[in-house]
Amino acid sequence: VIPLSLQRRVEGLLQEHLDRTVLNAEKGGDTLSETESTNQLQNVDSVEDADSFLDGSVMEKVLQRRSLRMRNMQRTWQESPEGRRLLDFRRSLPSSREKERLLQAIARNQVVVISGETGCGKTTQLPQYILESEIESGRGAFCNIICTQPRRISAMSVAERVSAERGEPLGESIGYKVRLEGMKGKNTHLLFCTSGILLRRLLSDRNLNGVTHVFVDEIHERGMNEDFLLIVLKDLLPRRRDLRLILMSATLNADLFSNYFSGAPMIHIPGFTYPVRAHFLEDILEMTGYKLTSFNQIDDYGQEKLWKTQKQLAPRKRKNQITTLVEEALSKSNLENYSSKVHESLTCWTPDSIGFNLLEAVLCHICRKERPGAVLVFMTGWEDISCLRDQIKAHPLLGDPNRVLLLTCHGSMATAEQKLIFEKPPPNVRKIILATNMAEASITINDVVFVVDCGKAKETTYDALNNTPCLLPSWISQASARQRRGRAGRVQPGECYHLYPQCVYEAFAEYQLPELLRTPLNSLCLQIKSLQVGSIGDFLSAALQPPEPLAVQNAVDFLKMIGALDEHENLTYLGKFLSVLPVDPKLGKMLIMGAIFRCFDPILTIVAGLSVRDPFLLPQDKKDLAGTAKSRFSAKDYSDHMALVRAYEGWKDAEREGSAYEYCWRNFLSLQTLQAIHSLRKQFTYILRDGGLLDMDGATHNKLSHNQPLVRAVICSGLFPGIASVVHRETSMSFKTMDDGQVMLYANSVNARYQTIQYPWLVFGEKVKVNTVFIRDSTGVSDSILILFGGKLDYAAAMLQHPNMDIHKEGKYLMLGVQELVSGDQCEGRFVFGR
Ligand code: CDP
Ligand code: MG
Repeated sequence: VIPLSLQRRVEGLLQEHLDRTVLNAEKGGDTLSETESTNQLQNVDSVEDADSFLDGSVMEKVLQRRSLRMRNMQRTWQESPEGRRLLDFRRSLPSSREKERLLQAIARNQVVVISGETGCGKTTQLPQYILESEIESGRGAFCNIICTQPRRISAMSVAERVSAERGEPLGESIGYKVRLEGMKGKNTHLLFCTSGILLRRLLSDRNLNGVTHVFVDEIHERGMNEDFLLIVLKDLLPRRRDLRLILMSATLNADLFSNYFSGAPMIHIPGFTYPVRAHFLEDILEMTGYKLTSFNQIDDYGQEKLWKTQKQLAPRKRKNQITTLVEEALSKSNLENYSSKVHESLTCWTPDSIGFNLLEAVLCHICRKERPGAVLVFMTGWEDISCLRDQIKAHPLLGDPNRVLLLTCHGSMATAEQKLIFEKPPPNVRKIILATNMAEASITINDVVFVVDCGKAKETTYDALNNTPCLLPSWISQASARQRRGRAGRVQPGECYHLYPQCVYEAFAEYQLPELLRTPLNSLCLQIKSLQVGSIGDFLSAALQPPEPLAVQNAVDFLKMIGALDEHENLTYLGKFLSVLPVDPKLGKMLIMGAIFRCFDPILTIVAGLSVRDPFLLPQDKKDLAGTAKSRFSAKDYSDHMALVRAYEGWKDAEREGSAYEYCWRNFLSLQTLQAIHSLRKQFTYILRDGGLLDMDGATHNKLSHNQPLVRAVICSGLFPGIASVVHRETSMSFKTMDDGQVMLYANSVNARYQTIQYPWLVFGEKVKVNTVFIRDSTGVSDSILILFGGKLDYAAAMLQHPNMDIHKEGKYLMLGVQELVSGDQCEGRFVFGR
């Protein structure tokens, strides 16, 4: 609450400035001199949210004045040499030719669907056209445009690009906001944010007050947040008649979206992409010298010693492996069967595998025989990328930095690396970018002439029946394959190498399954509940393609189990808190429990680690060494989570001593991930402190951080019902989940290295199906911990039936548990979770 005296003072100040501005304008000058008006603005802006308590008419005048200033700045920039250069570039984009038509359509219709080839200027130009035309008409400060992106990295890079095109620093009229990070100021009128951020805003501001235009970008990807946003926005439109909604898509399934918004007009931006020749596996083998019919002869390709860099397998044998499989695939009608067989062997991305060797061969072919131009390689994920990178770094041609500039492009790359991707390599050096499918649509690299497409992408799917998420590389869709191919034709005719036979391509699904239909819906359902839109099931049935009822039921059951919803599906106090925390509900609960039970610091590290990624690296060829290094952090406490805490703390110590880099190298830790964990820790602390859950001094909520059983219990409270019983046999152990499913431990888990585990239970964060079901990180817990911290008591009771639990000891365990865990001042926990 802003004190009245301050409010008066600011109002007075503003009034004074305004009067002068108006006076000046009447005298003929458009605004005050630049420096003077900047000073005044700073005065106004230094009082946070001055707008929110200003009287309407004063507000109007402030905005008018700001609008004038914006127009001046825009004109000045557009007339400067650099501004003109950029304007010329922008005018050369295909979207520019449709500018007037687009502006008109948007002015006349509440919803417009726009499609156009990637790179034609949708994301960077269309929101900018609106902003510019509003500014030009003297209403710049009145417009408020939001443009959503599916990924953080594209929100950030697009915002940077657009502000550069406008000759402004980021955070002025153009800003961005992604989870836990952002740059926007009082003058920001065009905000690029992730779709998740807009959803979060809708939780507290259901009418999007003050927003004039919403762009939802990349809707063809059918991400969960985008599909969710469309339901919410569709519901909002009748209440906000003045709000404009623009949907943007790269491929041409625009009518699906247009129908969803009762026949909204569609505009297609014709692109000028150059033709791209598609080569499928059969051509590739031929091109690189492998004739399907004559695979016994050694040809010039063999002389290039490509296969010879790997010594284990004779060159001819390698070649045979590939060609035989392809032959089989081509000659058999049972396509499904054979395509998966071919592909299994082709995308078994381990060093020296057929897949890698084939890729290497294609890259060599391009480098030796083809015209200049960058190469973009689509791989399935970060693991293959780093693995292939290591392999080709050792290659005589591809690994030569004077001839090849090797870069990677994936979701977690550093900003410096991000910039390199767009830069021109030195003359006679070929740029090769190994990318995930992130480079498919949201990032445009102009100089790409060659695309290599391995045909798969790592995709999460969700098995509702077994309530298990699966993470498997799966075939991309035909739309994706076309999209990947299109990336080669930006500046001149291009070539695309699809590393699979054409018949396999023809068997691809036309479009990818929407994410809403292939992920667990826990977080989503929690958000729906906090939107207060009634029943989750009814709400989701309004989706473009509604998820299965079983998937929804699983999510609701889960939220009830962790205490976020009560039995009538109403949000509990805990649920409300969890819906505002930008993490998975399970981890959010762990964080809150850590604060309440006063062992916040280790829990903070664990939650940050689980929501970034594992900092423990597992290089393919040094798995054993890496595992040993990790187990040094385990100190016989049977916990990957505690190992993470120790590794993090060790890093902080090493950093103080100036030896952080060596420390990471020695222990197979990723410095970048540890830094990310460090910054997430700060952000979470800030949010929890803001929510009143932490003490200002920082000591009280850490009073019990050294109490290991307590930390273990809090881990359990967060990860429950991710629990497996440890079944010891004579020489081995096996692990069983509550639904009697067998699970295996990941090779890099500290618990995988023990012969026996001194705890009857393991709690785990996630189980993932990769052939068999694996659990990644786990922590051993005792019966008493499970009873006291494993969800609600009725679940504990059910567990007592489990053969692993000795029912007669129940009373004793509870007693022990209470003594062990709930002493004195920790009882606050009851107020939150006691219901
Ligand atoms: O959204 P869409 O794929 O239609 O294209 P865009 O992201 O708006 O990009 C339009 C053009 O701007 C691209 O073709 C690039 O030439 C250029 N651009 C750039 O040079 N640097 C960026 N960071 C983003 C775009
Ligand atoms: Mg775009």
